[in-house]
Amino acid sequence: MNIYLDNAATTSLDERVFEAMKPYFIDQVGNPSSIHSHGRSIRSAIEKARKQIADMFRVAPSEIFFTSGGTEADNTIIKNTIDHYGIKHAITSKIEHHAVLHTLEHLEKEGKIKLHFVDIDGEGQINYEHLTKLVSGHKNSFVSLMYGNNEIGNILDIERVGEICHEHQAFFHSDTVQSLGQCDLDLSKIKINAIVGSAHKFHGPKGIGLMYINADKPIPPLLIGGGQERNMRGGTENVPGIIGLAKALEIGFSELEETQLKLLNFKKYTIKKLKENFDNISFNGLSADFEKSLHKVLNISIPGVDDNDMLLFNLDINGISVSGGSACGSGTSIGSHVLDALNIEGNPGTLRVSFSKYNTIEEIDYLLNKLKEIL
Ligand SMILES: Cc1ncc(COP(=O)(O)O)c(C=O)c1O
Repeated sequence: MNIYLDNAATTSLDERVFEAMKPYFIDQVGNPSSIHSHGRSIRSAIEKARKQIADMFRVAPSEIFFTSGGTEADNTIIKNTIDHYGIKHAITSKIEHHAVLHTLEHLEKEGKIKLHFVDIDGEGQINYEHLTKLVSGHKNSFVSLMYGNNEIGNILDIERVGEICHEHQAFFHSDTVQSLGQCDLDLSKIKINAIVGSAHKFHGPKGIGLMYINADKPIPPLLIGGGQERNMRGGTENVPGIIGLAKALEIGFSELEETQLKLLNFKKYTIKKLKENFDNISFNGLSADFEKSLHKVLNISIPGVDDNDMLLFNLDINGISVSGGSACGSGTSIGSHVLDALNIEGNPGTLRVSFSKYNTIEEIDYLLNKLKEIL
């Protein structure tokens, strides 16, 4: 058996996405900046993709910019908003992805900002009263709070945060990498300045992402070069990537209901079976709350496991890929800053299982059987 249950780390490419991208690797040769017909035809494909994406989010195409992924988009927005608007206070939470957390910490180390952490409870829910206090106490602040957490699946009340930030003139950025393509985000109804996305999280290709930046508060680019992306991101466009991103989003939106139902059923089934088979099993964050978490993420603590790496290793040699937390860039296991922030003692026996539309109940049964054998 070869079972992939780490879809919060990355997902496999949908074959329909691959088919849409294929001509742009082979036949469609032009550079979109060239003015000849080959170039113009590629430019037109990019702008069609941009318009299609903008329509899905109910925003203007001029507010969508393509990047190399979520990390670049987060870095661009965080660094350049703070720099451009002379922001001195940033507010975030301890459960953000490192693309946000490390960037903000870096700016604090450089003396550019003072970083404030909004209180969270033991389930990783942010304290909205504390957030209000922080933004009202620091005028012209930068707020970065993620919409869907990659480790514990928590979903933020993004409309409420938008209202709070708007009332106190704070710039609101949300890392929406885990939720794009898996939820219907109508940005015309949310008071938000910027969001980011990454195609490989929703069955698109790796190395392509996007940022939405509301036209009311424009920012300068991070990468300066040939004036691509209307001077917002230098560098020849990743054309097959952009086509693939748009196609993956289109599929994500058009199959939203059936996919979400499938993922929810996987989650419900896994929780039920784990409870039946393991005493005192618990679920971290809000990952087991069907209303308040991403259906694809389930974060589990199994009592009596004192070597988490060994558990992951044993599952791995049985052909099962799950994770102990987020996928770490260095390939080493360093524990989870998210579970630390929730005060989950020493992160004992923690597994993050994350589902995709390509999983099956048989695969989940196989995981459960192997867990019973190993433990
Ligand atoms: C919440 C979140 N933000 C940002 C990223 C980084 O995205 P990318 O891999 O496209 O740089 C990830 C990927 O792990 C993520 O889960």
